[in-house]
Amino acid sequence: MAQNTQRAGAAQATPVARAGHVGGTATAPRPTLPAPATRGGQTPQTAAAAQEAREGGAAPRKVAVVTGAGSGIGRAVAQALIRANWSVALAGRRAEALAETARLTDLTEPTSPAVVTVPTDVTRPEQVDALFAAVRDRFGRLDLLFNNAGTFGRAVPLTELSYDDWRAVVEVNLTGAFLCAQAAFRTMQEQEPQGGRIINNGSISAHVPRPHSVAYTATKHAITGLTKSLSLDGRPYRIACGQIDIGNAATEMTGRMQTGTLQANGQTAVEPVMDAADVARTVVHMAELPLEANVQFATVMATTMPYIGRG
Ligand SMILES: NC(=O)c1ccc[n+]([C@@H]2O[C@H](COP(=O)([O-])OP(=O)(O)OC[C@H]3O[C@@H](n4cnc5c(N)ncnc54)[C@H](OP(=O)(O)O)[C@@H]3O)[C@@H](O)[C@H]2O)c1
Repeated sequence: MAQNTQRAGAAQATPVARAGHVGGTATAPRPTLPAPATRGGQTPQTAAAAQEAREGGAAPRKVAVVTGAGSGIGRAVAQALIRANWSVALAGRRAEALAETARLTDLTEPTSPAVVTVPTDVTRPEQVDALFAAVRDRFGRLDLLFNNAGTFGRAVPLTELSYDDWRAVVEVNLTGAFLCAQAAFRTMQEQEPQGGRIINNGSISAHVPRPHSVAYTATKHAITGLTKSLSLDGRPYRIACGQIDIGNAATEMTGRMQTGTLQANGQTAVEPVMDAADVARTVVHMAELPLEANVQFATVMATTMPYIGRG
């Protein structure tokens, strides 16, 4: 798991590349969903977008927040979204890691995609509020939250897990995910055109545990409840919510899989891993569906990892 080397004092937007233009979702109302609060289809949100629309420019970018964007899956998803022409706010505690993600993706100046880095600790309500305020100020709306920040915690026998160990995992994986989802929900509910999508990052541990993972497993099962509640409560507001359950993408968090990790039978074994970019392609597919369609749950895992077949 990535370590926190620089905690953000308060979420503050750090523009990395200029936004070309921003605008609303391109989906027209359909009978299966309530109509947006204000009709009229795709409404440019800024003077720049309005001018671009008049001039017949490219379609407005959609806008995403990616938490945990400074490493691993969050970085891969942020890169994939930017390459798919999204504007992306990169959130996480380490400013330098976010800047590195931006640097890695900002390859096409002067036609660079819009990126903003917002150092944020997702366990702090005031920092989460500041993150979403920065996104509204910068881009004018929000189309996607990839609710990804997470931590595995200490892998120790259940009786050795301290209260602080437990709380640290619950605060990031569950409370942080809730705070970000709530702030995104408020933004999506209030904006015009109304609506958007939230994709929660669950895990194979949302289905079955690994040994010595009670806090991680409990919080990832809870993410499934968060996903279902957001899906239901989002219906009146054109807010879709789905979940991706990942197994063994090669990141810092899964370093143990490549050197040997404890199995259910007490043995230690090296496990197969997959490329985080293959997860990112799935998230982009989920993100780019019209709001009338939703991937409710997707499981993307290393093909031969121990899961199917119970080992
Ligand atoms: N890799 C896999 O195979 C796998 C499998 C199942 C699920 N997942 C899930 O995928 C997500 C990302 O994991 P990863 O594998 O990419 O590991 P990772 O590289 O360690 O990424 C975790 C990210 O979460 C951020 N984070 C942690 N605490 C935070 C906090 N309080 N506030 C804001 N950001 C915080 C970290 O950034 P900072 O340290 O800069 O804050 C880091 O960028 C997690 O939710 C994990 O449970 C991964």
